[in-house]
Amino acid sequence: MNTRDTLKINAAGHLEIGGADCTELAKRFHTPLYVFDEAYIRKMMALYRDTINEEYDGHGLVLYASKAFSCKAMYEIAKQEGIGVDVVSGGELYTALSVGFPAEKIYLHGNNKLPYELREALDAKIGGIVVDAYTEADALDREAQERGMVQDVLIRVNPGVEAHTHAFVQTATPDSKFGFSAADGAALAMTRHILTKKHLRLRGFHCHIGSQIFEKQSFVLAAEKMCAFMEKVKAETGFEADTLDLGGGFGIWYTDEDAKLPVDGYKGYLSALISALKSECAARGLKKPYLLIEPGRSIVGEAGITLYTVGAIKELPGIRKYLAVDGGMFDNPRYCLYQSKYTAVLANRALEQPTERVAIAGKCCESGDLIGVDFNLPKAKEGDLIAVLSTGAYNYSMASNYNRNMIPPAVLVKDGKARYIVMPQSYEDLVRNDVVPVDLEK
Ligand SMILES: Cc1ncc(COP(=O)(O)O)c(C=O)c1O
Repeated sequence: MNTRDTLKINAAGHLEIGGADCTELAKRFHTPLYVFDEAYIRKMMALYRDTINEEYDGHGLVLYASKAFSCKAMYEIAKQEGIGVDVVSGGELYTALSVGFPAEKIYLHGNNKLPYELREALDAKIGGIVVDAYTEADALDREAQERGMVQDVLIRVNPGVEAHTHAFVQTATPDSKFGFSAADGAALAMTRHILTKKHLRLRGFHCHIGSQIFEKQSFVLAAEKMCAFMEKVKAETGFEADTLDLGGGFGIWYTDEDAKLPVDGYKGYLSALISALKSECAARGLKKPYLLIEPGRSIVGEAGITLYTVGAIKELPGIRKYLAVDGGMFDNPRYCLYQSKYTAVLANRALEQPTERVAIAGKCCESGDLIGVDFNLPKAKEGDLIAVLSTGAYNYSMASNYNRNMIPPAVLVKDGKARYIVMPQSYEDLVRNDVVPVDLEK
């Protein structure tokens, strides 16, 4: 199990998260259930915020990448911790604004922002829009002109850094739908284009080199490449960037194949990145840019677990044993998407030693509906409680109503007290938007 103080095993042999006994949580809120440790989330937000304050004279802002887990309570916590957020859709923007999130601390991303999303961002007067297409730049300039305003923008640059992570979450390799390449002149051409726009104020550049990255050197290299690009832009156009957004991507612990950083270990990533940035800027005669970073997974991933109840058990001799749970790909599609690995714990008998290797299957009509195939657990029986760890990021936010299953509710735990942050869905919710056209009715 991981070493964070989020999770403990109590005297009864039950798993605890944030001081709450998982068996009690399951009794009160039922399963499947997402559970989040508030203290962990706040600690991570504060750690990044304070590192920028201490090591970069506060000349920057942490943007929580809210795609990792977006709901009103998360924006409220980010607001209280004094950080910003990045949003990638009108829906995320709406949710942030619905809790009074300060608009100037919101940045909008996306490789194909829709016209209405651009208009909503302008109307809300958000802090920045990260431009990722010519059509978008033109539309933004036109819409900003109609509103008599000038919008701050960054350009998404592909710095060509290959981070060692799963191919599907690499976003800065030459073949990517995101950004403009620094290497082939595309990013420079986009810079020239934006500089002609009267209603867009180019502040600087953004890159995001991927996700679940553990090599500090990848971030350092990205900072170096971005500084080299900024130097080139300055030499060729006279434009000197005053903002640099280095994205997110810090890795977290899912299984013992991953590094187990103590919470403070994440400070190391940011410190390395900041010191590379400072020395690169000094060496290249660039002013120190306002620094934005966008951690998502590392803020909320290990803060969350999912609780399931074991149902059907099927042993295929010589093949494998399946434990079916009351959730599945509708609450966690990451195994189906990326063969992501997780660690599971028998939460009601957490002191028992693992004795068998099992696959955890979901309840969807899909053979690939698995949470994973190689979990080590004590012999489980129907009714046992399983906790899948590190499910805080990209689980709820990727959930669906596949098979008309209900997306599980989420609770936030602090000092042993749990309260809903996402309410349970009902069957009525599932049919809320359905209509039977009048001419279909008999
Ligand atoms: C532009 C951008 N910023 C930030 C993030 C957050 O990355 P992570 O959750 O790995 O920190 C992502 C994730 O895909 C992203 O695409």
